Amino acid sequence: MNIGKIRERVLAELSKSADVKTLDMLRVKYLGRKGELTGVLRSLKNKPLAERRRLGSEANKLQKELETIFSEAANRLMTKNQKLTTDPDLTRPGEKISVGHRHPLTRVENEIREIFSSMNFTIVEGPEVETEYYNFDALNIPANHPARDMWDTFWLKSFSNPSRMKSNKSRITNSILEKNSRDNIREKFERYLLRTHTSPVQIRYMETHKPPFQIVVPGRVFRYEATDASHEINFYQLEGLMVGSSVSLANFKFVIEEFFKKFFEDQKIQFRFRPSYFPFVEPGLEVDIKLTTKNRKLSTWLEIMGAGMVHPRVFEAVKYKNVQGFAFGVGIDRLAMIKYGIPDIRLFYNGDLRFIRQF
Ligand code: PHE
Repeated sequence: MNIGKIRERVLAELSKSADVKTLDMLRVKYLGRKGELTGVLRSLKNKPLAERRRLGSEANKLQKELETIFSEAANRLMTKNQKLTTDPDLTRPGEKISVGHRHPLTRVENEIREIFSSMNFTIVEGPEVETEYYNFDALNIPANHPARDMWDTFWLKSFSNPSRMKSNKSRITNSILEKNSRDNIREKFERYLLRTHTSPVQIRYMETHKPPFQIVVPGRVFRYEATDASHEINFYQLEGLMVGSSVSLANFKFVIEEFFKKFFEDQKIQFRFRPSYFPFVEPGLEVDIKLTTKNRKLSTWLEIMGAGMVHPRVFEAVKYKNVQGFAFGVGIDRLAMIKYGIPDIRLFYNGDLRFIRQF
């Protein structure tokens, strides 16, 4: 029996087969269960040892070689479509298409919006570029008041240029004057800045609405300060404001406790209300929370927000009489960091997709 002869015959016939079907017949003829080469291999067991060794290794080598040759030829002859339909595993799950998804801060902000909506709060937004009046003066933080140092401010450059300041000022005041002819309006539009907190939206909302109401204001704020793991030059806040004839701190306590229980999914969360100072509230307070968690870092008291009863001077600025209300401001980034155990606020803003994809 001559293995080399078989090889020559196969290759000759192979060169003549021009389609997949003939190729397959050829493969069966030699390599199939009753094929010629298979027959040779099977007959080995009756041969003397020496011949078995020689023939066996030659036949095995040829079998391997032919398998490769056949599969390569089949690949060459198959159309793309045939390849697809002869895919050995048709039940294989489809390949995952990668899609974009929401940033963790957006997700947290949406959750917060939902919780406050469910408590009948209206969601309001305001501009990121603000005037000195809305960001400071109307909130009882006059120029040169030391309290302004609480907010390191990005002042907008164009307004240190006197000629541009003049034209911008008149353009803006004119358009506002058309809508509103209050005498002192000119003083309100002195200098522009990037809002340092969402509190100016309190003023904007009260100027255009009558109490009673309850609103929350999510939005981006800016601080001119050095960054570290817990400070960024821009971050997100949520302002809250509820005004009516008898809105009290007790109402604030209820609302905020409900909010945190829902947000952290923790019915046993503990609260601490400490006296504090913000020019636009009196009394002012700070809220601490303590979560029921095994995580040692989170099971301590965490400073979470500033709040208080709206200062009478703020109501004066918007010409409100005989009302009272509470206001609060909370960092959305900080809430997200606590909820998801994120150690560094800068991770939210550096654009590293490996971070974003974890949420
Ligand atoms: N605006 C304050 C801040 O950014 C937070 C605050 C809002 C405090 C409302 C009291 C009432 O620090």
